[in-house]
Amino acid sequence: MAAAATTSLHFAMYPWFALGHLTPFLHLSNKLAKKGHKISFFIPTKTLPKLQPLNQFPNLIAFIPITVPHVEGLPHGAETTSDVPYPLHTLIMTAMDLTQSQINLLLEDLKPHLIFFDFTHWLPQLARQLGIKSIHYCVTSAAMIAYTLAPSRQFSKNELTEEDLMNPPLGYPSSAIKLHAHEAKVFASRRKWKFGSDVLFYDRQFISFSECDAIGFRTCHEIEGDFVNYLQIEFKKPIFLSGSVIPETLTTPLEEKWESWLLGFTKGSVIYCAFGSECTLKIEQFQELLLGFELSNMPFLAALKPPFGVDSIEDALPKEFVERIGGRGVVHGGWVQQERILEHPSVGCFVSHCGSNSLKEALVNKCQLVLLPQVGDQIINARMMGNNLRVGVEVEKREEDGLFTKESVCKAVRIVMEEDNEIGKEVRKNHGKIKDLLLTKDLEQSYMDNFSKSLCDFVANK
Ligand SMILES: *[C@@H]1O[C@H](CO)[C@@H](O)[C@H](O)[C@H]1NC(C)=O
Repeated sequence: MAAAATTSLHFAMYPWFALGHLTPFLHLSNKLAKKGHKISFFIPTKTLPKLQPLNQFPNLIAFIPITVPHVEGLPHGAETTSDVPYPLHTLIMTAMDLTQSQINLLLEDLKPHLIFFDFTHWLPQLARQLGIKSIHYCVTSAAMIAYTLAPSRQFSKNELTEEDLMNPPLGYPSSAIKLHAHEAKVFASRRKWKFGSDVLFYDRQFISFSECDAIGFRTCHEIEGDFVNYLQIEFKKPIFLSGSVIPETLTTPLEEKWESWLLGFTKGSVIYCAFGSECTLKIEQFQELLLGFELSNMPFLAALKPPFGVDSIEDALPKEFVERIGGRGVVHGGWVQQERILEHPSVGCFVSHCGSNSLKEALVNKCQLVLLPQVGDQIINARMMGNNLRVGVEVEKREEDGLFTKESVCKAVRIVMEEDNEIGKEVRKNHGKIKDLLLTKDLEQSYMDNFSKSLCDFVANK
């Protein structure tokens, strides 16, 4: 066993054809290559040049081009979700399902020890027939997977209702994570959602988790340990944690215009708000959010995409907003250096849509979290942060329609920012504790060492 732990292995990677999956799989490949392992990374032909610059170990990570078969309804040459609008993503999945014989031939030839995958539910069986182990590497939070896909939930009833989904499955580690009726309604409708080759999205996921030999999560025990343990029991198979797999990047300083703007305000006084690159609000909610910042009387920097159906930020602002706000607030439609902004001393709170990456960046900084999730796993992530770890405050939404108001935005911001607020004090204390844990020296390195060792032992244990 001890000898096996230092072997270098050969892994194949076959993530869902979306940049939000291809990129983290490549980050993981870089970390594994750094440990001396060899990687064969399956990637659509024309997408290859986009990822090539991120390959830090060209001597160990080989890109293997995959020809994406044409599917009726897809534009010619479409390969990944970034090539087509959202309603056509399902056809990208269908195309990916049609690569089975290609993958079979490649695996026969390459004979890797292990293949990492996520959405291709047919892969575990195909790999097993070739004597190759498969690992479902999941980029969604363990708390979300446990809430929606735990076998206890899956088999208790044939059809899950809104009422079922308002509560976690049997044995779930936290009773503080639940859905409101308006959220459960959306979750319930998603269960009827077909995604690729006439297969339900949930069935695809469930088969992937059930059939694989092991599961991997891009998370850490400090945050999701209980949920990982629960899933290990539920799916009766080993789960390995890779840590956050934060890529090593050169730190470029914050752009001068933001640096000088932020320095015009006192320490911890600015609200920073961002909803990620994918999330688009309806115009009414976009305006309500900004009016909430106005109501707070605090300076703010909001990096948001224009709302649905509006071309520019300027056209979407509430009436006479710029005149009333003056230099106290900025609404910016472009990309900003989020990590640099979060660590800026003037920034006191972060109003976030609760995407996993944003939360990871927020937890290692000192600014306080205001949680405003929009869809899917963001909702479970928000409950996790707000109710379970109690490191942030969620913006209240109306029960009847799930909408938030300017008053509820302002209220949540005030709770985390005001020094003598009791809830704010507790949240700040909890956040501080988690931050120190996550910043423990060499924690990330330790995760990757253990992950690599676990994989070696796992491959050795036939
Ligand atoms: C890695 O494994 C060692 C030995 O089992 C353990 O002490 C350490 O806490 C693990 N590190 C992480 C980050 O889980």
